[in-house]
Amino acid sequence: MIIAIDGPLASGKGTIARALAATFGLPYLDTGTLYRAVALAMTDTGHAPEETDRAIEAARNLEISLTCDPRIRTAAIGAGASVVAAIPEVRQALFAAQREFALQPGGAVLDGRDIGTVVCPEADVKIFVTADVETRARRRQDELAASGEMIGFDAMLEQLRIRDARDSGRADAPLAMAEDAHLLDTSTMSIDAAVNEARAIVEAKQGGSG
Ligand code: DC
Repeated sequence: MIIAIDGPLASGKGTIARALAATFGLPYLDTGTLYRAVALAMTDTGHAPEETDRAIEAARNLEISLTCDPRIRTAAIGAGASVVAAIPEVRQALFAAQREFALQPGGAVLDGRDIGTVVCPEADVKIFVTADVETRARRRQDELAASGEMIGFDAMLEQLRIRDARDSGRADAPLAMAEDAHLLDTSTMSIDAAVNEARAIVEAKQGGSG
């Protein structure tokens, strides 16, 4: 079974994807780590994410261990990831690894922006996770604060709006809900409630009624 989870930053998609992977015994890939790793590779070699040719080179020669580097979780690397992710050749360079992960025997859970639309249009279950921008800004603020990065609410809101516009507005594989995806708005939901709802969607599909 392939489960595709898409949605904007801090919608809760990662938490839901990890919980589904644990419940259904499936391997999990957070595809954002690939784009973040490209952005980190650029920073480490002294380049800005806007340097398109360098970004393409970094994506084609990506050192996969960078996806586990804790530095990919900073706000600056997240913003850089969103910039390099708008470059079609970067997306192309990262495509095969995502596809291969999805197609492993038994299936997988992947989360990102274009899993249900581009990476795995044939996924058995697609969930588009979202939440209003204020809720996401508060969640992201808390996440960053937990790792010692303090950002004010207004600045966070502004960063999210810029990121949403860039991820949704790019020409190649923009953030979008697949036509056959289930919409899960977590704005007023606890983590447990959101995870339970996602589990119910998968179980309904397994039972043939989803
Ligand atoms: O999910 P995340 O915040 O870790 O992703 C970081 C950036 O990577 C995001 O702003 C856009 C890009 N991304 C993408 O374009 N496609 C994906 N499947 C995953 C992430």
